[in-house]
This record gives sequence, C-alpha cells and structure tokens, in this order.
Amino acid sequence: MNKVYKSKLARAIALAFIFYITSFSDLVGQTVWLDQLDLSAATQGYGVPRKNKTVDGNVMKIAGQSYDRGFGTHAESSLQIQLGGKAKLFTAWVGVDDEMKEHQPAVEFFVLGDGKKLWSSAVMRVGDIARPCTVDVAGVNKLELVVTDGSNGNYYDHADWADAKFETLGATTFATFNPVSSEPYILTPKPSATPKINSASVFGVRPGSPFQFRIPVTGDRPMNFSASGLPSGLKLNGTTGVITGKLAKAGTYLVKLRAKNAKGIAEKSLKIICGDQIALTPPMGWNSWNCFAGEVSAEKVKRAAEVMVKTGLVNHGWNYVNIDDFWQNHRDSKDPSLQGKMRDEAGNIIPNKRFGDMKGLADYVHGLGLKIGIYSSPGPWTCGGCAGSYGYEKQDAESYAKWGFDYLKYDWCSYGNVINGLPQNDPYKVSSLSYQGGNQLATAMKPFQLMGDLLRKQPRDIVFSLCQYGMSDVWKWGGSVGGTSWRTTNDITDTWTSVKNIALDQEKSAAFAKPGNWNDPDMLVVGTVGWGNPHPSKLKPDEQYLHFSLWSLFSAPLLIGCDMEKLDDFTINLLTNDEVIAVNQDGLGKQASCVQTIGDLRIYVKDLEDGSKAVGFCNFGLEKVNIAYNDLNKLGFSGKQRVRDLWRQKDIRDISTDKEALDLNVPVHGVVLYKLSPLR
Ligand code: GLA
Repeated sequence: MNKVYKSKLARAIALAFIFYITSFSDLVGQTVWLDQLDLSAATQGYGVPRKNKTVDGNVMKIAGQSYDRGFGTHAESSLQIQLGGKAKLFTAWVGVDDEMKEHQPAVEFFVLGDGKKLWSSAVMRVGDIARPCTVDVAGVNKLELVVTDGSNGNYYDHADWADAKFETLGATTFATFNPVSSEPYILTPKPSATPKINSASVFGVRPGSPFQFRIPVTGDRPMNFSASGLPSGLKLNGTTGVITGKLAKAGTYLVKLRAKNAKGIAEKSLKIICGDQIALTPPMGWNSWNCFAGEVSAEKVKRAAEVMVKTGLVNHGWNYVNIDDFWQNHRDSKDPSLQGKMRDEAGNIIPNKRFGDMKGLADYVHGLGLKIGIYSSPGPWTCGGCAGSYGYEKQDAESYAKWGFDYLKYDWCSYGNVINGLPQNDPYKVSSLSYQGGNQLATAMKPFQLMGDLLRKQPRDIVFSLCQYGMSDVWKWGGSVGGTSWRTTNDITDTWTSVKNIALDQEKSAAFAKPGNWNDPDMLVVGTVGWGNPHPSKLKPDEQYLHFSLWSLFSAPLLIGCDMEKLDDFTINLLTNDEVIAVNQDGLGKQASCVQTIGDLRIYVKDLEDGSKAVGFCNFGLEKVNIAYNDLNKLGFSGKQRVRDLWRQKDIRDISTDKEALDLNVPVHGVVLYKLSPLR
C-alpha cells in the first residue's frame, strides 16, 4: 500500500468511526446531570441555589441516605430549564434534607413541562425516605422544577433534588434561564407641586372611640388644611391636616376637605360613617415581620414611623405602623433582651427590654399622625415562641387599649397544640393545620370570637386582623367574630412562586370581601426584606408591579414589609402611585376576580365606586403577551369607554368596546393595569 492510500484509508476509517459514534449517541442519548447546568438562575425562598450541596452547604442527606450530586434549594423554589424537546427522561430522588431534623419542615416537589404539571411528590416531611422522581419529558420545550412550602409556611424547607439528571436525545446540554427582566424601571410620574388629596372617599369610626385621621395630601409644603361639614366633636389641625376628637352618635357625615399651598388648592369629599364597621377601606401601613422578624425593637418601629412621614409615604395614605412578633418575652431564647417575666401578678403582659414603654411608643407614633399595631396569638406561645394570650385574653385586650393600640394581628400558631392536646411548649404550626375531632368550625372560630368580643369592649377602635392561614374557610365567618381582615394563605416569601401561588389561590374568597371585611393574602414583599437576613426583594421589577397591582385589585390590606430606612427610588415609586392605590382603597370595597384567561394571561376586573372598572391584564407565563384584545364585552364592558393606564397615569385612548380591539403588550410576569370609564 502506498503512503497516500494508507493515509486516505486511515481518514476514512476515522470519519466512519466519528459518524458511527455520533449517530449512535444520537440514538442512545447521553446523561446530563442537573448539577452541570447553571443553577444560579433558580429563585428560592432562602439562601442561594447549591450545586451538589444542601442550601446550608452540607452533603445532601435524605432520611440517612447521602447523595454526592444534585441541587440543594429551599422552598419556594423554581428552576427553569430550556430543553427544546431534546430530553427524554428526568430522574431524581427528592426529599427534605436531614439538616433540618430539629424542626418540622414540609415541602412538595413539582415538575412542570411547558407550564403543565407532569409530576408531584405529594407533601414530604423531614425523615421521609427519598421519593423517586421519574418523568417522561419527551417533547417538552421548557421544564420547571418547583418546590413549594408543603402548605405549612416555608420554614426550614431545605429541599434536595438528589442525583437529578436528564437522559437526552443525542449529544446536547441544556441552559437554565430566568425570562424576567432584572432592570428596574420607573412608571409612576412624580406628584405635582399643587395639592392633591389622596384619601379614600370613606372613613369608619365607632361612636365614642377616639378619632384620628391624617388627610393624605401631596404637593409642596407648607400646606394649609381646612374642612367644611365636620361634625361636632371633631377638629382639624390646619397645619398638620390631622382630624381628631370623638363622635358621640352614629351617623353619616359628609365633609369637604380642602388643602391649599402656594401653588393652588385641592378639594375632596370624605364620608365619615360613624357606626359599627371600621376599616371601610383596606388598612395601609407597615409591619415589622418581613424585614426584622425576631430582631424588632421599639427604636426600629419609631424609625419606620419617622420614615413613613419623611419620605412622604403618609401623603399617599400609608398610615399603620405595626409591630409583629417579638415585642414580648420569649419562652427559651438565649438573647437577654427577650428574657424576663412574661406577666405580672395580675396576669398583665410585660413587654421585653427592647420595648419597655408601650404607651410611650404608641403616643410617639400617634404624635406623627399615624396609627400603631400589635401582635399576639390565641395560643400560649406565638409562632416565634414568645408569650401568647391563651388564658389572658382579657388582660391583653385591656393592655392594648390602655397603651393606645389601633390594630391587633392575632396569629393561630400554638393554639393548634391546645386543641389537639399536644405539648403546649412547641410553638410551631405543624400541628395546627388540622383539628382532631369535635366541631371543626366551632373550634376554629372560638379563640377569635373570644378576642373579637373583648376588643369590641375596649374604649377605642382596634382593627382585628385574623391570622390562621385560611383554615375552615375563614372568609365565610371571619367578619362574624369581629375580624376586619383574615389571612387566606400561608406566609409569603419574596419569590415569584410564592406570590404566584398566593395570587392564584384568591378566587375562593373573592366574593366575601366587603367594607370592613378584607381577605389578606399576606404582606408586600417589595424593597429590602429578609426576615432578619436583609436583601433586596428577589422579585423582579415586573413581578413587583404585578404583585402590587394584584394586591390592589384584591382589596388586600397593604402592609409594606421592608426596612423603611432602606427604601430605594424604585420601591418608593412603586408604593406611591395614587391611581393604583385608589383601586385598592375604592369605597365600594369589591375584590377583583379573574374573569378570563388566555393561556397564561389572567384578566382581573374590579368594579369601582364611580361606575368604572379596573382591569389587570396579568401575565403569569414565560412569554411576552402581544395581542389585539377584542373581548372587552366578555369583561362586562359595552359602549364607549375611556382607557387609562394607571401605572403611567395616562389616558391611552377612547374605545368602542363592541367593535374595537385593545393592543396589549404585557411583559413576562408583568402587568398592564387599566381603568375603563364609560363615556356618555
Ligand atoms: C406567622 C405569621 C407571620 C408572622 C410570624 C411571626 O408565621 O403568618 O406573618 O406573624 O408568624 O412569628
């Protein structure tokens, strides 16, 4: 054989070999391990996504079995993977990591293919042996791996996708992605220098209760306030715009509010309804939990109140400053500032050293024209293990009133142990979600009825916020036990999965919202949040616009959960759009419901007092929505309507709803929020 021939033959053999290998691997495929992909695209409720380790950085271990490879995460968790139809099979062993065995976490794993559920693990707890996940993913373009909180809040939910891998169709690898843009962008125009009164149209108070209402007004200072038609018993401070006093008799009083500065004058009518109901529009304010959790102190609460005034948030209606858990002494904390006697000889609760003078704090907050809230549990312990109200309900209601509190959040937690006869020193909610025997509804209502009645006996109005995560369809009876609002779901986290699942869960209760009775899908997760580990909300800007729009459409209590001292321009802008807030504060008090879905686009409609409707085109999907929408009749519109973009505070156009289409461009996980008003 000559040299040339030899080398040609060698090349031909090599090529044939390569061809054989490639086509063979095309046929048999490959294994692509999940840990070979970029996991940083995942979003999760706590910590960072980990490769081959748990969320705390340990070797993954489920019920004693260790795993070298996989994805360690924490509920609520979501990882998106572009498969492009090139994978056949996804397999993994899933479970709660043993590193949390001192606690009671519960999670549920889901595999979604192109938005559809392909598999779920059912709820898993710590100590459960790993469950095999084997999912046929042939033809799937986008795969999502999700871990939810197992319906008991996302506490200690360390979740492992162990030995997770794909069998592919041919030689390939996959990219993870997060389709939502991260760039913050400002939509709300700055308030004008001329006065504008941003209050709701109604305000409720009970006869004989101290009255306090700070008129929210934007515009240059100094500002002078006046009012006509103020009933006797009330007086307005012309400089601060705070109305105080007392109304002796029930009745409806029509007041004209006026605000004047160097640039001009504004007027607005306010209907004061003195009767049985308070919180005729959803409460708006701040709560310490989502940022400070167990680190709250009187100083932090004072500073949050001061920021509410200094940043001008108060001029948009933000008003309550609410202390959550950890103002009381703790069961067994090592922190000296939480140690001490829980109660005095008469059974009166003693605030911890970080708080001390509760009346002084309440006076300070009232002095700013704001209101103040407090927190307790009907059980012996709060969710965080501080002293609860069980057995001392009367003393507690009286203390709150004596100190001057305006709002009580009353959180089920260890009450579950009381009714189930479980050890009362375990404050966690694991036992609380089910009742053993008995009349379940009566059991669920009892502690709230008790506190509700006691609050009503106090000589001041105290908003009663029920927190029991939606058990026993609380929206059907929360009002009857004196509740002003009630949580409908478990705790929120600053992840898209959490916000989305909570939002999707609101339909069941929507019809029950009305003035004085609000469904509460939990507090806002915008700004710097973190339950003691402060970080910027993990929600992307579009997700935050959607979150705030939905909570406004839902007529939800609006409670800012962030560190007020770290408010950035984006967050302030998000929280100060008066036209969006007006949707939340509308006097009719209806909650929006989802009237139509087009793929992942959910269209929510909320009827407003002036005969117009707010419409939220909410994109829950992974693709932008660009459509000519011509179903306005299906949403209940007819004739000519003026379309206004509420986030941009701009009229878009007038539309003949029977003939014309609306061009919609809705970002991924974003919103277009319009108000449509009938034109004559
Ligand atoms: C529960 C509630 C939270 C918060 C904590 C405090 O989890 O749902 O909103 O109040 O308790 O411990």
